[in-house]
Amino acid sequence: MAARVWRIEEFVEIDSTNSYLVARARDGAPEGLVARADFQTAGRGRLDRRWEAPPRSGLLASLLFRPGVASEQHYLAAVAVALSARAALVRLCGLRPDLKWPNDLVVGDRKVGGLLGESVVDAQGRDAVVVGIGVNLTTDGPPGVGGTSVFREAGVTIEPRALLDLLIDEVEPRLSWLDDDRDRLLAEFGGALATVGRAVRVEMPGGTVEGTATGIDGGGRLIVRTESEERVVSVGDVVHLRTPA
Ligand code: BTN
Repeated sequence: MAARVWRIEEFVEIDSTNSYLVARARDGAPEGLVARADFQTAGRGRLDRRWEAPPRSGLLASLLFRPGVASEQHYLAAVAVALSARAALVRLCGLRPDLKWPNDLVVGDRKVGGLLGESVVDAQGRDAVVVGIGVNLTTDGPPGVGGTSVFREAGVTIEPRALLDLLIDEVEPRLSWLDDDRDRLLAEFGGALATVGRAVRVEMPGGTVEGTATGIDGGGRLIVRTESEERVVSVGDVVHLRTPA
């Protein structure tokens, strides 16, 4: 398959790169459109949270994809971006964050980045996925959250655009795996996921599940064995309860 065409739009300030690309996707913008901002006035996180970062302190970017997979698999586009960010950080500074299900990049239990995936259908009924990523490069994120930064962990100051360029380089093959070699993407995900094998509490909009995370299914959903049953979880916040022996 021919390499995708990437078009990066950069902003000094924007409300939210995700909101911008969701609107562009609804208007039929093509796959490969990327928005990056130095600062967001209304950055959004998962579960209606805010994502705040001082100007140029982190990577704030969103990517528009039109994957040829069913909407139940769209979450895997965010996984592809998370794995690509991880690979890009390894190349730039040797830092290899783990993934925490569903969408965090962590060093130990400290969050260094997060992703927000949003599915969109345009007026012609065509599917798109917008994946936004925030990575703390020089500041640790809001106080009290226990976050960290690439600078704190690796002692290196990375330019947001340098990380984005390498992330795009890394995402190209992973998007192809999403279409035609999903097992390979899932295998890399399983290997990067600090959540598997851990005692977890999953806080979902409709309640809480506690047990051991035993793996992921074919759509990247988390499998949790509780005392009485096996549950497959597709949304929620995970708390890692104990460090594995
Ligand atoms: C989370 O951890 O809750 C997800 C955070 C996602 C933040 C990024 S920053 C760039 C993009 N634009 C947004 O408004 N949000 C995402």
